[in-house]
Amino acid sequence: MPRLFSAIEIPATIAQRLSMLRSGLSGARWIDPENYHLTLRFVGDVDGPTARGFAQALNEIEMPPFMLRLDGLGSFGGRKPRAVFAQLAPSEPLEALRRAHDRAAREAGVPPEGRNYMPHVTLARLRGTRADVVARYLESQGFFQSEPFAIERFVLYSSRASVGGGPYVIEGEFPLG
Ligand code: 2AM
Repeated sequence: MPRLFSAIEIPATIAQRLSMLRSGLSGARWIDPENYHLTLRFVGDVDGPTARGFAQALNEIEMPPFMLRLDGLGSFGGRKPRAVFAQLAPSEPLEALRRAHDRAAREAGVPPEGRNYMPHVTLARLRGTRADVVARYLESQGFFQSEPFAIERFVLYSSRASVGGGPYVIEGEFPLG
């Protein structure tokens, strides 16, 4: 069963800038820049008919292209940090697209998402890195901002069943506009 998620790709110029943040944090497993992405809807391991239903529902989404911008870094996990990520500047079109992906998942019978959605691009996964070390990293790098970049399509990715992590394979491409 494929482990699926829908996402927005990060353009190479922006990925290149993000890749310059990959130092100064001991214990970080830095994500390869070609695997940076912004998840819209995590689907997980589903059977073939559900996967096809989700892809079909994604195909029916109609939205014009829009711009996004990265604005600041943050971490997940609080006192036990588990990831460092780049945040997205607030975007109404992104919210609308995410809602459309949620609807597509519902229509396909994908189980409801347990996590609260927070748009982010994971930069590193952490294990055993102390919270104060992460705080110092964020103090020095956390003001990262990207120039705006155009979103002209979203994709359906698969990763290794049950395990996750890159490299990700594009299973479907969905142009906007
Ligand atoms: P993360 O980078 O914050 O872990 C593929 O695993 C993508 O789906 C990742 O961007 C991951 O976010 C996201 N994702 C969202 N919910 C997930 C879940 N419950 N399990 C694994 N990945 C999830």
